[in-house]
Amino acid sequence: MRESVSLTIDGQEIRAPKGMAVLEAAKIAGIRIPHYCYHAGLEVVGSCRMCLVEIEKSPKLQPSCATPVAEGMVVRTTTPQAIENRRSVLEFLLANHPMDCPVCDQAGECELQNYYMAHGRFDARHDEDKTKRKKAVVLGPHIMLDQERCILCTRCVRFTRDIARTAELGVISRGHRSVIDVFPGRELNNAYSGNVADLCPVGALTDRDFRFQCRVWFLGSAPSICPGCSRGCNIEIHYNRRFNPRYHDRRVHRLKPRWNPEVNGFWICDEGRYAYRAIDAPDRLKVPALRREGGLRRASWPEALGEAAGALQGVLEAFGPGGAAVMVSPQMSDEELFLARRLFGERLGIERIAGRAPAPAGAFDDGLLVRADKNPNTRGMNIVFPGVGDCRDLIEACAGGSVRYLHIFGHDLARWNDPGRLAEALRQVECVVFEGAWDSPTARLADVVLPAAVYAEKDGTFVNFQGRVQRFEPAVPPPGEALTDLDILARLASALEAGPFESTASGLFGELARRVPEFSSLTWQALGPMGRWLADAGNDHAV
Ligand code: SF4
Ligand code: FES
Repeated sequence: MRESVSLTIDGQEIRAPKGMAVLEAAKIAGIRIPHYCYHAGLEVVGSCRMCLVEIEKSPKLQPSCATPVAEGMVVRTTTPQAIENRRSVLEFLLANHPMDCPVCDQAGECELQNYYMAHGRFDARHDEDKTKRKKAVVLGPHIMLDQERCILCTRCVRFTRDIARTAELGVISRGHRSVIDVFPGRELNNAYSGNVADLCPVGALTDRDFRFQCRVWFLGSAPSICPGCSRGCNIEIHYNRRFNPRYHDRRVHRLKPRWNPEVNGFWICDEGRYAYRAIDAPDRLKVPALRREGGLRRASWPEALGEAAGALQGVLEAFGPGGAAVMVSPQMSDEELFLARRLFGERLGIERIAGRAPAPAGAFDDGLLVRADKNPNTRGMNIVFPGVGDCRDLIEACAGGSVRYLHIFGHDLARWNDPGRLAEALRQVECVVFEGAWDSPTARLADVVLPAAVYAEKDGTFVNFQGRVQRFEPAVPPPGEALTDLDILARLASALEAGPFESTASGLFGELARRVPEFSSLTWQALGPMGRWLADAGNDHAV
C-alpha cells in the first residue's frame, strides 16, 4: 500500500499519497487550483505560474503542480499574494490574447475565459496594439492552429513528444516571439492528433471537424465506450440537445476521451474519435423492409417480424433446429448476445451459431491504444458463446444448401467474400434476415431487413480484450423506426410465441451474472462509470 502523509490545505486536514503534487492533493479536499501547463497525463514543467500557492515556511509562492506533499505541510491557496499572482498571470496572458471570444470555438470551455471570470476581472491597462500572429493555420487532417490565442503552456508539444511520440510540434523562436508551430516540412498527422484539441486550454488548437458546428453549451453528454476496437476506450458522446432535422444533419457532434486509468488513461485514437460520423450517416437503416417482387420494400414492424418468425417456424417444423443458423457479432453487447443465446440457442435449440470473422486488411496493434481486433466485444462473445463458429464456415454451409433460415446480426459479409459467391450462397437460403444499423451489400441480399440501434442509442456492456466489463449509455434515440437489438429480439420471441424473456440490459446483465461464471462477481450497479474486471481477467490489465 502507498505511504501517505497528512497535510492541511486551506484549513482542511487531509491525507494524500506521498509524492502526490499539492495541486492533486487539493482536489481531495474539493479545492481546484487554477492551472494551465499542468496536465495529469503529461510531464510536469511548472512554466505557466498560474498554480502558485503559499506554503508555510517557504519564502515565496510555490508551484502546486510541481511541489510534492509532505508530512505536516500547511498550504494556503487563497491568500492575497496567491490571488494577486493569478490576476497578474492572467493580465500577462491576456495582454496579447485577441478578443476573439464571440467567434472562438472554445468559448464555453476556455480556461482563459473561465479563469478570467473567476480570478481576473481587472480593467485592461494596455493601450498598445496586440501582437499579430498566424491565424486559422491547417496543421493536419484534424487540427487547426490560431497562434494568437496560444498561451504557450506546451501541453501539445509534450503530448506529441511523449505520448504520440511523433514530435511534430515545437516552440519556435524565443522570448516574446515564441510561437507554437509544426516543424518545417511536417504536418500534425499522427494516429492520436485529435487529443491536442482536448488538451489545449484555450482556442489555439481546435478540431477542424467540430469547428462552428455547435456551441458547446448546447451539447449534452453521455458516458460510453468506443466500439472501434477491442481496447474499449472510455468516451463521452457529445450530442446536440437542440437537434432539429430541419436545421441540422448531425445529432452527435463529437466524441471525447473519458479518463480511465485501467483502459485508456486520458486519450483516444483519431480512428475512434472520428468514427462518430457513422452514427448519423445517410446509410443508416431506418425502416424495416421485406423482399417483394425482387426488391426490398418498406414494411411495418409486425409485417417484418411476422415474416421472419413465420419463416423460422416453418424451417424448424420441416427440418428441425439443424435447418437454421445464426451469425452473432462481436459488435453486439453482452446482453444482446445473451438474449440471442437464450432465444435461438436455449429456447429454439439452434446449434449452428457463428460469430468469428476475419480482421480487416491492414489492421494492427500500435502498442499504445489501437488494437488489431476492430470489435469491442470479442471477449464477451466468446464467453457467452464458448467455441462460437466461424462465419466463413457458415457461408460454405449456406452455399452447400444445408441452411434454410439465416439470421445475420450486423455483419457485412461482402467485406471478406467475393460478392458473386456471397450472393450465390445466400440464394440457397430460403429466408435471410439481416438485423443491423447500416445498409450494406449483405442487407441488400436479405429477405427481411430489421433496422437496429447503434451503441450511442442504447445501453449495455462490452468486455474489452483485457477482461474489463464496461457499461455504455444512450445519448440519442434510434433514428426513424429503428429499435435496439434487445427490443427486436424480444418482439421476435413474442412473434414466435417463444417468450417472454427479460429484455432490459440491466435485467439481462443480472441473469448473465447468475448463469455465466465469468460474470458471477459483478452487478449492473457496481460496474459504475469505469467498469470492473471479469472474475477470470487474470493479470493482463496493463494499459
Ligand atoms: Fe498550450 Fe494550446 Fe498553445 Fe499548445 S497551442 S501551447 S496546448 S495554449
Ligand atoms: Fe503549475 Fe503551470 S500549472 S506552473
